Amino acid sequence: MMNHSTEDTTSLDPDEAQGLKFKHITTRSELNHLEQANIQNGIAWMRRSRRADMLSESYVCQLHRRLFGEVWLWAGTFRRTGKNIGIDPLYIAAELRTLLDDMKYWFNNETYPPREAVIRFHHRLTAIHPFPNGNGRHARIMADALLIKLYKLPTIDWAGGHDLASMNSRRKTYIQALQAADRGDYEPLLAFAGIR
Ligand SMILES: Nc1ncnc2c1ncn2[C@@H]1O[C@H](COP(=O)(O)OP(=O)(O)OP(=O)(O)O)[C@@H](O)[C@H]1O
Ligand SMILES: [Mg+2]
Repeated sequence: MMNHSTEDTTSLDPDEAQGLKFKHITTRSELNHLEQANIQNGIAWMRRSRRADMLSESYVCQLHRRLFGEVWLWAGTFRRTGKNIGIDPLYIAAELRTLLDDMKYWFNNETYPPREAVIRFHHRLTAIHPFPNGNGRHARIMADALLIKLYKLPTIDWAGGHDLASMNSRRKTYIQALQAADRGDYEPLLAFAGIR
């Protein structure tokens, strides 16, 4: 994972430069700024959007495109290659469909309290890892979108006063909590989100 405090000025690797809409971008710091501006626009779109079909592949992809599409050509499209995190790319569409159906069921049947439901959704979405990049940020904003639009509740304080993008204790706690959730233990992630 990139440590922004020390590697901000390093150049992008060729994989990353592929699909970048702005060829003059060469450093991580420039990229971060560009992405951050795009994400702000994406969040604004999410907040004003009246789309009712949030639990659909189409919405999940549109949100990713709105968050990253000013920067990356592949925004909103599923990855086609394997990564160290995430399932085999062949199964992304099917697994996402299952997750969206589960979330619909949880919502309709009040299976979990609202914030627990979206935390479980968040973890499952990061575990699928549908996109080439931006999965963490997209899955956090998607969880917030469900809270705002579906449940009419405030968002989760993911960063908790820290910079979740850089490698610090808050991020370490977050990643460890996701790994615990991989093993079926959601308590650390619920605690991280201030729910327990
Ligand atoms: N062991 C893990 N299990 C599940 N998800 C993980 C694990 N480790 C990391 N993640 C998730 O993957 C994200 C990183 O993936 P990716 O680089 O696609 O997203 P990103 O939005 O660019 O990341 P970032 O959080 O650094 O902004 C993390 O933010 C986290 O949500
Ligand atoms: Mg990333």
